[in-house]
Amino acid sequence: MRRYVIAGNWKMNFTPSEATAFINEIKPLVEGKNNCDIIFCAPFVTIGAAMEAAKGSNIKIGAQNVHFEEKGAFTGEISAKMLKEIGVEYVIIGHSERRQYFGETDYTVNLRTKAALAAGLKVLLCLGEVKEERLAGITNEVVGMQTKLDLAGISAEELKNIIIAYEPVWAIGTGLTATPEQADETCGVIRDVVADLYGREVAEELIIQYGGSMNDKNAAELLSKTNVDGGLIGGASLVAEKFNAIVDAAQ
Ligand code: PGA
Repeated sequence: MRRYVIAGNWKMNFTPSEATAFINEIKPLVEGKNNCDIIFCAPFVTIGAAMEAAKGSNIKIGAQNVHFEEKGAFTGEISAKMLKEIGVEYVIIGHSERRQYFGETDYTVNLRTKAALAAGLKVLLCLGEVKEERLAGITNEVVGMQTKLDLAGISAEELKNIIIAYEPVWAIGTGLTATPEQADETCGVIRDVVADLYGREVAEELIIQYGGSMNDKNAAELLSKTNVDGGLIGGASLVAEKFNAIVDAAQ
């Protein structure tokens, strides 16, 4: 039985004081809704304030990226050890905006994932096809290859600390959502590739989220699908009532 994971990706939104206000607003709304894990991934400088506000609640705070080296001359980067020391449990790796705008590749996604796991963090590993790939009918090949490259050298034991977020790039921030059938099918393809790599039993335990314009209106149908175990939510994670409605859909 897989557990729903509903995660917000705040992206470059919310200063520390804004995050505090938001967490204080949503905390009572989601209180006692324990049938899913609730995570907000905050900008680095906002993590501390968000964690402080979330203390004692069922809300966990994560980060949106991590560097793959332990330490050293990497100006502007943050290590897994730094995140771990301040109490971060989850980190997003390989988000399509990192891949699109910051030169992230499957190779660096794989390195970051290994570094995060080694430091004891849990990883929300993002992958997904762009519009041209979907139109060309090669979605399954693309997500299959990303899955293999991103997970290269990672053991079945380590995989327990990975959640895969299937995020079709054409659906992110566009208001376009994959249909529940498309989401289910592609999450199923990812699960099959994981089954080839690690065996069916391991694959059946893997949590696979859908992300891409998930909102209060479409969440229930997306989450009803067999292979969709949660959501990674951008825009709707900035509005307490909307995010709360998605949490309700996962109850
Ligand atoms: P969106 O973003 O919900 O705004 O489409 C999702 C994501 O980027 O994780």
